[in-house]
Amino acid sequence: MKIINLIFVCFFLLLITACGGSEKKKDVSTDESINLSEKDLEKGASLYRAKCMNCHMKSGKGIEKFYPPLADSDYLRENLEESIYMVKYGSNKPIKVNGIKYNSLMPASGLTDEELVLVFNYILNSWGNDYGSITLEQVKDIKRK
Ligand code: HEC
Repeated sequence: MKIINLIFVCFFLLLITACGGSEKKKDVSTDESINLSEKDLEKGASLYRAKCMNCHMKSGKGIEKFYPPLADSDYLRENLEESIYMVKYGSNKPIKVNGIKYNSLMPASGLTDEELVLVFNYILNSWGNDYGSITLEQVKDIKRK
């Protein structure tokens, strides 16, 4: 009798952990009103590989003094709108990321607003970044100055 009880307890524990695990995976965003789907994150990752990885590297760490990091970047965390502007329209103004100066050129990405949302939600939630998420409206509102 006791053994059967034990088996039941194990079975239930297994069920609970299995369900908990899959729920966690889906909820990547810190912003509870927006849930990023794994599918969108994968699309963002493939855009990143095609359009950003050459300079910012697979690790998101960039190349010191030439290409700034996106992983653990204080600039990205604190200047989100400006960051989107830079990727949308290109940038060659001097900026400081994690205390290091950068003044090289990032060409305009040529991505659509929809693709910018995907790639930003990927970089905001990769390599340990936990910087929330953005919406299409936010990207659309960023117009050339
Ligand atoms: C040709 C190299 C190159 C490519 C490709 C490139 N970047 Fe950049 N990126 C740079 C440089 C250089 C800067 C700094 C620009 C400056 O000094 O004005 C920068 C700055 C940034 C910043 C703000 C600074 C920071 O590190 O937080 C973000 C965010 C960013 N890039 C994201 C992207 C994304 C997303 C893509 C792909 C869609 C991309 N970049 C493609 C070179 C590149």
